[in-house]
Amino acid sequence: MASHDLQVVARTLVSDGKGILAADETSPTLTKRFDTLGIQSTEQSRRIYREMLFTSPGAGEFISGVIMYDETIRQKSAGDTPLAKILENQHMLAGIKVDTGAKPMADHPHETVTEGLDGLRDRLAEYRAMGAVFAKWRAVIHLTETLPSAACVSANAHALARYAALCQEQEFVPIVEPEVLMDGSHTIERCEEVTGIVLQAVFHALLEQGVVLESMLLKPNMVVPGKDCPRQASLEAVAVATLRCLRRHVPAAVPGIVFLSGGQDARLATAHLNAINRLEGPKPWKISFSFGRALQDPALEAWHGKDVNLTAGQRALYLRANSNGAASLGKYSDEMEAASSSADEPAHRRDWRDD
Ligand code: 13P
Repeated sequence: MASHDLQVVARTLVSDGKGILAADETSPTLTKRFDTLGIQSTEQSRRIYREMLFTSPGAGEFISGVIMYDETIRQKSAGDTPLAKILENQHMLAGIKVDTGAKPMADHPHETVTEGLDGLRDRLAEYRAMGAVFAKWRAVIHLTETLPSAACVSANAHALARYAALCQEQEFVPIVEPEVLMDGSHTIERCEEVTGIVLQAVFHALLEQGVVLESMLLKPNMVVPGKDCPRQASLEAVAVATLRCLRRHVPAAVPGIVFLSGGQDARLATAHLNAINRLEGPKPWKISFSFGRALQDPALEAWHGKDVNLTAGQRALYLRANSNGAASLGKYSDEMEAASSSADEPAHRRDWRDD
């Protein structure tokens, strides 16, 4: 694939009114989510769940691509079709998570560095043969009064940049995901400060490694106060801080910014995305979603591991995808939620994103 084609893939992923479904939880993380609902986690039940999501009728109107986990891209549907092919039939591009997780960082307690560069060139070639055209790598930044350390920021930025360069060499569009976590009691101002520092380091590293910015997507956190911060922020305040931070640190050459949801309530994540897109002023990139929990939780809840609920699960995904597609255009409204009571999710399940 020429660099021109990579740009087409990147732009296709953020075409008008569309975003990405992150369905790339590792098996242990998906098992935790299943456990809470009493769903047995087996290779088969995970496959049924993912197949339910991928075959949701009409979801392709709002979902341009799906990020899968290694187990999933190797699985076949009940009808013996590879799940990557199922996505293609639904007009959704196949993506793959290629990092191997955030591991404790030497000499830096409470901090992690994401691993997975070893053998990545060969793994990408294998995933390409299975139909994947884009990839994802997530760096995790813990925020406290004293963290992150400069060492943690630069190690994660460097790894993200080397991953992105390898992806482009192997003709994949890299999704570059530096996530500043919502855990803690920090203020929105502190989140903005740290998100800015991290983005600056990431783009410095990307340019140093020769990554073509036109052929990648950025997947950042929104700028929000910590979950335990006594001073929570309005939709408007989150939108203003997020857009200001992105304008300061994300080059205009990047075609799209696709947010992670990070444990936000599904409807709140949608409302934030909408508020960001409705702000006045320059937005040189498409601003859309690459949500995991905020797209999936209502569908998982509706399905509950039962075949009889497969249609309800698909409907729940469709409704969230529809709302987020509208939010990516700044056209979301509360009325869109009227049909989706299942969007109310239990808070206890939102925290889990171990991978
Ligand atoms: P959440 O939207 O649940 O944060 O997941 C997105 C993701 O892919 C994290 O790596």
